[in-house]
Amino acid sequence: MGKIEIFDTTLRDGEQSAGVNLHADEKLEIACQLERLGVDVMEAGFPASSRGDFLSVQRIARTIRKCSVAALARSTKNDIDAAWEAIKEGGNPRIHVFIATSPIHMEHKLRMTPEQVVQKAVESVRYAANFTSNVEWSAEDATRSDWDFLVEIVTKVIDAGATVVNLPDTVGYATPQEYAGMFRYLRERVPNIHRAKLSAHCHDDLGLAVANSLASIEGGAEQIECTINGIGERAGNASLEEIAIALAIRKQVYQAETGLELNQIVRTSRLVSKYTGLAVPPNKAVVGANAFAHESGIHQDGVLKNKLTYEIIRPEMIGLSSNAIVLGKHSGRHAFRNKCEELGIQLDDERFHLLFKHFKELTEKRKEVTDEDIMALAADLTGKE
Ligand code: KIV
Ligand code: ZN
Repeated sequence: MGKIEIFDTTLRDGEQSAGVNLHADEKLEIACQLERLGVDVMEAGFPASSRGDFLSVQRIARTIRKCSVAALARSTKNDIDAAWEAIKEGGNPRIHVFIATSPIHMEHKLRMTPEQVVQKAVESVRYAANFTSNVEWSAEDATRSDWDFLVEIVTKVIDAGATVVNLPDTVGYATPQEYAGMFRYLRERVPNIHRAKLSAHCHDDLGLAVANSLASIEGGAEQIECTINGIGERAGNASLEEIAIALAIRKQVYQAETGLELNQIVRTSRLVSKYTGLAVPPNKAVVGANAFAHESGIHQDGVLKNKLTYEIIRPEMIGLSSNAIVLGKHSGRHAFRNKCEELGIQLDDERFHLLFKHFKELTEKRKEVTDEDIMALAADLTGKE
């Protein structure tokens, strides 16, 4: 079984979500929770981007001990100096340097020739490697880059000292087959690839970030970059909790495992949502409020008989105490009787049928019927006798 390292970038790419601006204390609290969750690497920020970010990354690096703290840098000495200065007191600090490699980015954003990009990438990695052997290099917009150009530049940055090579789907454009294919292509052709780990970093513009991240494992990726609740630029990044649970539940398929403490997932998700102000959609996989809620009568009946009928994830696995049987218009007698027993309502068959009838009438007016509603209906019924 292979190990997949989890590189969390909630505090860097995640914080780049529109409208999010985390306070330094909030960032530190999230960092401590990510450490509890057991991520292998946390990208704490982009120190050259502002004094505030520099100080916040420095504080995190000084506090966190159980995982590597990474800082992002463009391919300039200035950025790399700021990144190193911010993380150098950390346990296992990582400098993460990047430059774009796609024709559109090189020509229109960087205004550089491919040869100049190769030279800059090599220089920046060599410079970063003077500080630490833990250097990650990213080919921004890798999925819209020429694969043979990637083979050339990756070979050279590994020679210059990169120990992790990240191939981001920066604009969320790839399909799972293409993304896995790109990893395979590089793994087969980069002669010194055994000296570096390959990493995946996916955005969710087409809703494929998690699928692409998982597909990269088949292509040989050993590190996956992701964020809590999938927050990030535009439509967000690959969601950590979905990747972690998919790997845990489908171990036989992916033949890979993480070192995450899965029972910290809900707690981490809620903390990130609270501080970023980004609500988790109720139907979000794994951490959405409805992820373990059963509403229809057929499903409720099945779950009450055996949870495995409709639940592939045990709620306790991610730190939830139990699933939820939500009583609404699709609920059946079995779930309703179960709820009455839970609430201590004891009725003979005749009164139970009457209470169920009143409950059904109420569901016509309400989306969800609460415990209090049922208690009130039962009290009404017994009071009328
Ligand atoms: O999406 C991206 O390409 C990035 C890089 C800076 C790694 O976030
Ligand atoms: Zn990104």
